[in-house]
Formats: sequence, C-alpha cells, structure tokens
Amino acid sequence: MLPSPHILVTGGAGYIGSHTVLVLLQSGFDVTVIDNLSNSSDESLSRVARLAGKSPRFVKADIRERGQLSAVFAERPVSAVIHFAGLKAVGESVRVPLRYYDNNVVGTLRLCEAMAEHGVFTLVFSSSATVYGDPATVPISEDQPLGTPTNPYGRSKLMIEQLLTDLAASDARWKVALLRYFNPVGAHESGLIGEDPNGIPNNLLPYIAQVAGGKLRELSVWGNDYPTPDGTGVRDYIHVVDLAEGHLCALNALQTRPGVGIWNLGTGRGYSVFDMLQAFEAASGKTIPYRLAPRRSGDIAMCFADPSRAERELGWRASRGLQAMMEDTWRWQSRNPNGYRSSTAG
Ligand code: NAD
Ligand code: UD1
Repeated sequence: MLPSPHILVTGGAGYIGSHTVLVLLQSGFDVTVIDNLSNSSDESLSRVARLAGKSPRFVKADIRERGQLSAVFAERPVSAVIHFAGLKAVGESVRVPLRYYDNNVVGTLRLCEAMAEHGVFTLVFSSSATVYGDPATVPISEDQPLGTPTNPYGRSKLMIEQLLTDLAASDARWKVALLRYFNPVGAHESGLIGEDPNGIPNNLLPYIAQVAGGKLRELSVWGNDYPTPDGTGVRDYIHVVDLAEGHLCALNALQTRPGVGIWNLGTGRGYSVFDMLQAFEAASGKTIPYRLAPRRSGDIAMCFADPSRAERELGWRASRGLQAMMEDTWRWQSRNPNGYRSSTAG
C-alpha cells in the first residue's frame, strides 16, 4: 500500500490551523504540525486527535530556526506545506513592526529555503483580504488591484504574496496557492476546538462571545456613520470549517496547476455589526449590551468577496450560514470560558 501523503502544517496549533489539521486527518492525510506555541496551546491538537481518532505529529519549533526546520523535513518526506504560522494582531503590529516583519516575512523566507533544500515545492499560504486595502468596489474579485494595507501586519501579508510570486516566477517547480481569507469566525460543531484569543479580543465575534459569557461588560460598536445600510461596518464572515475545507481543495488543485493561484475564501455575503449582534443574540438566547463608539482607525466601511473563482477552479464554496457560525461560536465559548485553559470541555 502507498503511504498517505504527508502534509506539514506550520502554525497548526492555532485557530484556523487546528481546524485544518482536523479536516486533513479526516481526509486520510498524515500531518506534522510545527508551531512555537507563541499564540496557542498544544491542547488544541490533543482535542483534534480526539475528534479525528488519530494524532498529528507535533514539533514545537520556530519556523525561523533553520536547524529545527531542516530536521523536520529530513525526518520524513513532505508532500506539501500549508503555512499558517504568523503573528496577526493589527494593533501590536503598529507598536512592534519589526517583530511582525521578522516573524511573518523572514519566517516565510526561511520556510521556503528549507522547502527548496528538501525538494518540496507545493505551498498553500494564509493571506488576507487586507491586501485589497479599502476596496474601490464590492464584491471584491481577485483581479481587483491590490490596495494599501493600513498597518504592518497587512503589509507583511502583501510582502509575502510578492515574495512567493517572485519565487514561483524564478523556478517552475513551485506551485503556490495564495488564499485570501475574509473574516474567519465560528468553531468546530463539537465545541472542542475554537478560537482562543490572547487577552481582550480585537475581532468582533470573539468580543461579542466574551460579553455573552460575562467576561466583558459591553460591546463598543465602532462607528454607525459608514455608508452602509445601517451605518455599521459590513464584512464577509466565513465559518472556520468552510475555510479549513478550502485548504484541502487548494491542495488538490495544486497537484495539476503550476505557478501561483490566487483565491478569495469568503461567502460573498456581507453582514453589518448589528446583523452579527442580532444573530448572536438569537443563537445564544443572551442579550448583548452595547454602546456606540467612534470609528476605529484603519477600519473600512464594506468588504465582501466575490468567491466565484474558488468555486470554478477549486470546486469549493462555503456552505455554513450565519446561524451555524453563531451557534458554534457560542457552544465553544460557553463550554470553554477560558479557552484551552478551561479543563471541562466536552
Ligand atoms: P493563530 O494565532 O491562532 O495561529 C497562528 C499560529 O502560528 C499560532 O499557533 C502561533 O503559535 C504560530 N506561530 C506564530 N509564529 C510562529 C513561528 N515563528 N514559528 C512557529 N509557529 C508560529 O492565528 P489564526 O487566526 O489561526 O491565523 C492563521 C493564519 O491566517 C495567520 O497567518 C493569519 O495571519 C492568517 N489570517 C488570519 C485571519 C483571522 O482573522 N484569523 C484572517 C486572515 C488571515
Ligand atoms: C480586522 C483587521 C484586519 C484583519 C481582520 C481579521 C483592523 C483594522 N483590521 O479586520 O487587518 O485581517 O481583522 O483578523 O483591525 N467591530 C466593532 N467592535 C468591536 C470589534 C469590531 O464594532 O469590538 C466592528 C469593526 O469596526 C468592523 C467589524 O466589527 O466593522 C469587524 O471587525 P473585525 O472582526 O476586527 O474585523 P476587520 O475589521 O474586518
């Protein structure tokens, strides 16, 4: 019998990574995770193992460490790499930009060097809709000109896209997927794995969930004077399991597709802050106190995807709706009020 394809997942203990590792294991892949646990806990992988009935191999290491990376590649042939490892806190990236360029850009560069040294040329990269900046029109298609991200985090994603595009142009063996995520939310339906933000959440849904759970007092709605139907910001929220499945479809597509492919992973639907608030209240039965607050600097009015290229070329589309996003978020939050530090889940 042929051995199962072996996928290396960087940052696989994190939010999107852990859901993707689960989908990979359930689809018959062997998985090695490399993560320095700077923003995660290996408890996520124990729970993934519980759900999948088999374990990923876990190596606690930093992708910027040549020796550690090389050892991982040398140990067992790798078929492809899915690259989630990176820092993602927008505000922190403004305060300590070098940490972001080092971790995200230099980390990716080291990873690509190690891949080439070991003859691995298939890479799926976590990019972001942030590379479109403030879009001229919505829905946003991949052909739309790239914008100017408003912070070092966003610029690090843009730089990595450029780095990978240059690399693929220099050597025809590279097959690269740039997946531009819209707004990932939700959790696995089991309530065992989910998003475990450090400190006070920056993003809307984890913040609402912590208000519902009694950890935070009220939501601040940042701006109700945007040119949107109800004045609040509109985003394309995508269920994290749909997003995880998109990685599997991208891996499949890369088998027959050289060069760089760029795909939006979004639903194509936009929801406002008030839409999200109401949907969460309906799913959880909780009332979420809120107050109106000034706009957050760097925010844009509207951002949602044209996901038709992913459907056409990857055979992928998001299937989980707003209700599932909310119910799954609340199940995860209420069973794990302190994230992976809670001991009673399941
Ligand atoms: P996360 O912080 O939960 O996961 C990232 C993981 O990478 C963490 O487990 C962290 O410990 C690990 N890591 C960071 N630096 C590392 C390094 N140098 N070496 C090894 N491991 C390292 O974040 P996430 O939400 O799962 O995001 C995954 C990827 O998707 C990131 O690259 C992020 O920028 C990108 N992304 C996320 C979102 C979002 O809203 N969550 C949106 C667009 C793009
Ligand atoms: C933010 C980041 C973006 C990153 C994305 C996914 C900024 C400026 N942008 O985008 O770079 O790629 O997360 O990680 O931080 N909102 C509130 N109150 C809150 C939180 C959010 O009203 O407490 C509103 C925001 O103004 C926005 C919407 O909710 O209209 C969604 O916010 P958020 O979840 O932070 O995502 P983005 O702004 O899309």
